[in-house]
Amino acid sequence: MREATPRTIRREDYTPPPYFVEHADLGFELGDPVTRVEARLTLRRNPALPPGPLVLDGQELGLKRVAVDGRELAPHEYTLTEDHLDLGILPERCTVETSVEIRPGENTSLEGLYLSSGNFCTQCEAEGFRKITFYPDRPDVMARFSTTLSADPARYPVLLSNGNPVARGELPDGRHFVTWEDPFPKPCYLFALVAGNLVSLEDTFTTAGGREVKLEIWVEPRNAEKCGHAMHSLKQAMAWDERVFGREYDLDIYMIVAVDDFNMGAMENKGLNVFNSKYVLAQPETATDEDYEGIEAVIAHEYFHNWSGNRVTCRDWFQLSLKEGFTVFRDQQFTADMTSRAVKRIKDVNLLRTFQFREDGGPLAHPVRPDAYQEINNFYTLTVYEKGAEVVRMLHTLLGPEGFRRGTDRYFERFDGQAVTCDDFVQALEEATGRDLSRFRRWYSQAGTPVLGVSGHHDPRARTYTLTVTQHTPPTPGQPDKLPLHIPFALGLVGPDGVDLPLRLAGEAEAVAGTRVLELTEAEHAFVFEAIGTTPVPSLLRGYSAPVRLRYDYSDAELAFLMAHDTDEFNRWDAGQRLAERVITRLMADYRDGRPLRLDEGLLAAYRKLLEDPGADRRLLAQALMLPSEAYLAEQSDAIDPEAIHNAREFLRHALAQELRPILLESYHAHRDPDYRVSPEAIGRRRLKNVCLGYLMALHDETIQALCMTQYREADNMTDAMAALAALAQVDIPGRIEALAHFHGRWRDDPLVMDKWLALQATSSLPGTLEEVKRLTRHPAFNLRNPNKVRALIGAFASGNPVRFHDPSGAGYLFLADRVLELDPLNPQVAARLLTPLTQWRRYEPGRRALMAGELKRVLATPQLSKDVYEIASKALGEGS
Ligand code: TRP
Ligand code: ZN
Repeated sequence: MREATPRTIRREDYTPPPYFVEHADLGFELGDPVTRVEARLTLRRNPALPPGPLVLDGQELGLKRVAVDGRELAPHEYTLTEDHLDLGILPERCTVETSVEIRPGENTSLEGLYLSSGNFCTQCEAEGFRKITFYPDRPDVMARFSTTLSADPARYPVLLSNGNPVARGELPDGRHFVTWEDPFPKPCYLFALVAGNLVSLEDTFTTAGGREVKLEIWVEPRNAEKCGHAMHSLKQAMAWDERVFGREYDLDIYMIVAVDDFNMGAMENKGLNVFNSKYVLAQPETATDEDYEGIEAVIAHEYFHNWSGNRVTCRDWFQLSLKEGFTVFRDQQFTADMTSRAVKRIKDVNLLRTFQFREDGGPLAHPVRPDAYQEINNFYTLTVYEKGAEVVRMLHTLLGPEGFRRGTDRYFERFDGQAVTCDDFVQALEEATGRDLSRFRRWYSQAGTPVLGVSGHHDPRARTYTLTVTQHTPPTPGQPDKLPLHIPFALGLVGPDGVDLPLRLAGEAEAVAGTRVLELTEAEHAFVFEAIGTTPVPSLLRGYSAPVRLRYDYSDAELAFLMAHDTDEFNRWDAGQRLAERVITRLMADYRDGRPLRLDEGLLAAYRKLLEDPGADRRLLAQALMLPSEAYLAEQSDAIDPEAIHNAREFLRHALAQELRPILLESYHAHRDPDYRVSPEAIGRRRLKNVCLGYLMALHDETIQALCMTQYREADNMTDAMAALAALAQVDIPGRIEALAHFHGRWRDDPLVMDKWLALQATSSLPGTLEEVKRLTRHPAFNLRNPNKVRALIGAFASGNPVRFHDPSGAGYLFLADRVLELDPLNPQVAARLLTPLTQWRRYEPGRRALMAGELKRVLATPQLSKDVYEIASKALGEGS
């Protein structure tokens, strides 16, 4: 817990480590309540620096013994504080031994060594290793680890750590032990151990180089049958990384362990990934199509880290996006190859434009490579991950696939085994391609979302089309002035017949057909295209080629035209979203000014056309039929009124459903399949069917409700059951209570399925939802100590239910702040994340704004706040630095 204002760590203050660890020899006597950790560190002073003291990090460790070169130190020979052990200046080469006692059973922060379902597991990124033993806990100290685990064989039959198992046996006292050796030097944040009663699914993968790798997925015995999809995903990911990035696996064994109590999605510990069970366990009856996709993506993400993160790691935590942005880009490309490229792009862009833009425009805005932090755990953000991935994607676009691959080959080869910076990454790409990326580097240092202003002018007599493009980035905290960025701007000009015009810029010899990528580097550009006889409709920022806000003054008719004809699938979808957004905005204005609401004929016609002419990709169609979310619409408005957004959007859903009822019903029935399959095609059909059901349920019609109940009752898979139940959860009918009770009765023993049950209720827009959520916090299915439960109930309510969370009374805010304060002493990392919806207070209309700020102030005034929550609350109120 915090004393005064937490210290700010700055990127500019980086200095290299005074000592390197060559070897870390660890011994764990695992026990609950007490575990003993013996560490023997072989150290070498950094010859590049003048001799300085060895200061090891360590928190909440009961120090029993410390020795240097075999000699035990007396207490006056070292300094022990809350979080450091200072041993003074040591010889150029020496060994330091420590022995500490820790209490994993009391560790509710889920950082360091803790228990989940009675099994031991660890989470060390970013700075959790210091809660395990005294160590220089920084990523630029890379050591070879060997780890011996010993424990009661009856309670902890399985003992796992990084690398390869090299010895095992029984000890005289009846305990058993296993010794693991990891031949690859690594920072301590990649250390892991797991011990307990687990079973494994085993398989093998033979690498392109002929290495046979043992694959093991370890789970609690009750989950033994739910690992097949995770294993399949892992093998797909291993093959893909060989094919697309030329990266092979490097140890003889790759292990994944699933645990129920986990702060985030998963962790890439060398050779021993630890996963939130949500991203491992799946069966058709318990997991939706989205869950399957999430598992495939996260398994791949952690696997890809073996190169982008582990073999080449980060010099310091400011460089986090070096591994995360790059690895997210890699997993996005993988998912695009495994599923549908356009749908994957749409989902990623939705996430970015809804939540990363919100972060980038608010009080917590920071660059992809931040300059300062109080608590690094607060910087595992959408900006570092998702915008970071967009930055890598832009490099891929600018260099082309071959140039990019040459660049990443060079990066991996040149920096293998090292801890490096984002700048090193860009430099490797420059060296491999001869491109100048100096201006591009600003993407790493400048926060905020750039705005592109575009206008087009056709001169029929000169047969020219001139596109004028301006860019500017609004100020963000600490960065009042911004410089122009290097932006890949992909576009096409669509002729009246819907075909892309060949494009030739003034001065060019030949026209290029289809999409071309222009490069913006200045605040303003004018591009003159020649030989343009008829007025085209510009299709701008195709594939969403840069993470910017695009302003172009389209007419409704032009949007409907692009929606029907654009050859770029992403932009076809985006045109529909823009049109729908515009219609909803007008409805909000009509509602506010007391005009009658009516359905926009253009949008209706466009939607009808989509349904009548569904195209090949059902998933893309389903995506196109979805109105922009309330959260997205809020992000587009100033002085947000969540109720107005909700009502306007619901009016539109209802009106569309009313007009399109026959064709929605027809499409619903046409896409019902007699048996459950998992092909992309079958998934697309299910998705479309369920989107149709969602619209139809907006009608509040008893026949439809009966149809929905039937789907729920007869579903043989979770996708269909959830789609029906989600629709039922939104309507106040007896069937709702019945179905929710039935679902609970059937799945009460499956924690992941109960998360869905909690989230469905938390996101119902029915008026009694807050009271319901409060009751559910006392339900046996809820547990404040389990992050999945917290996210499913409280997180889903606060970020997935705008109209109820933002109740004008402020009751939602009060509830959230209370839960944050209750959770903070237990798990500060999750508490800080839970608080984020309140940080947007300035964006809301005056009444809500004041209430939200009031709750933030109450949180900030609470004594003993963690630095995690302190940093978020103080910065949100503009009181931080
Ligand atoms: N490095 C992990 C990933 O992106 C995420 C991670 C960071 C994490 N800190 C964590 C996971 C803390 C769990 C707990 O894959
Ligand atoms: Zn990651």
